[in-house]
Amino acid sequence: MITVTTIKELHDALQNVSGTVGFVPTMGALHAGHISLVKQAKTATDLVVVSVFVNPTQFNDKQDFKTYPRTLEADSILLESAGADVIFAPTAEEIYPEQASPKISLQLDGLDTVMEGASRPGHFDGVVQVVNRLFDIVEPEVAFFGEKDYQQLAIIKKLAEWRNYDVQIEPCQIIRGEDGLALSSRNALLSSEARVVAPFIHKILEIASSKNNDPAEICSWAKTQIENHSDLFKVDYITIADQNNLTTETEITRNSRIFAAVYCDNIRLIDNLPMQCL
Ligand code: PAJ
Repeated sequence: MITVTTIKELHDALQNVSGTVGFVPTMGALHAGHISLVKQAKTATDLVVVSVFVNPTQFNDKQDFKTYPRTLEADSILLESAGADVIFAPTAEEIYPEQASPKISLQLDGLDTVMEGASRPGHFDGVVQVVNRLFDIVEPEVAFFGEKDYQQLAIIKKLAEWRNYDVQIEPCQIIRGEDGLALSSRNALLSSEARVVAPFIHKILEIASSKNNDPAEICSWAKTQIENHSDLFKVDYITIADQNNLTTETEITRNSRIFAAVYCDNIRLIDNLPMQCL
């Protein structure tokens, strides 16, 4: 495995590659969720590039960007044992040079205005711009994204469509702790008290996902359960939406998915599950 920081070094490393390039974009602070994407890439493609770049343009909160964990040394050890071939860890200047090509304008059909998009203005525009730039630089045949960030995955599929499908997008299932909590770099920021209650979010979503009454009632039930469980919880949203177009549903269908964002002692946690009742 090699680590490169410039586009030139990356292109030199990829010059003589025959076969398919798999790409896993990350912001580092890696855990078993990220590593599962790398392992899936390793199985499906011939050479795996992992980018580690904390993208400033997708943080709508400056403090969140500042405190985002940066752990490249530990990340490298995990990536090497997962079988990654190249780590691309660029500077912001490398990704956003002064003579950068103009921002792309992508028709997202409302995918970016609901849920995370409503709570974090500008977030998905930052994600789209950086992933598009990374796709231009790495030119992968296949790119791997986690269902943990389901809305992001839906938006990246639109990006691939806009790019005339020059890259295939592979969804990867959510990796959880034994207690059900979806693994996230933000879990490291939870206080010990918050870490104890956090798995309750998944527990309630699982019960909610087996119900088949009015979606609004299910969501309101789940919100009450979570907020009554601990003073540390504050629900941002719980929504049942169509997993393709992300519009809120008025009845449960085969495409229904339940999505939640919950502050746990001020740390924002997100999770989602398919509805299981059909
Ligand atoms: P980051 O949060 O580092 O996540 C990188 C990838 O790992 C994403 O595709 C995310 O969905 C996936 N992932 C995170 N936790 C996971 C889990 N528990 N199970 C399965 N997959 C998981 O998402 C980003 O970075 C950025 O927005 C990025 C796409 C890199 C653009 O900057």
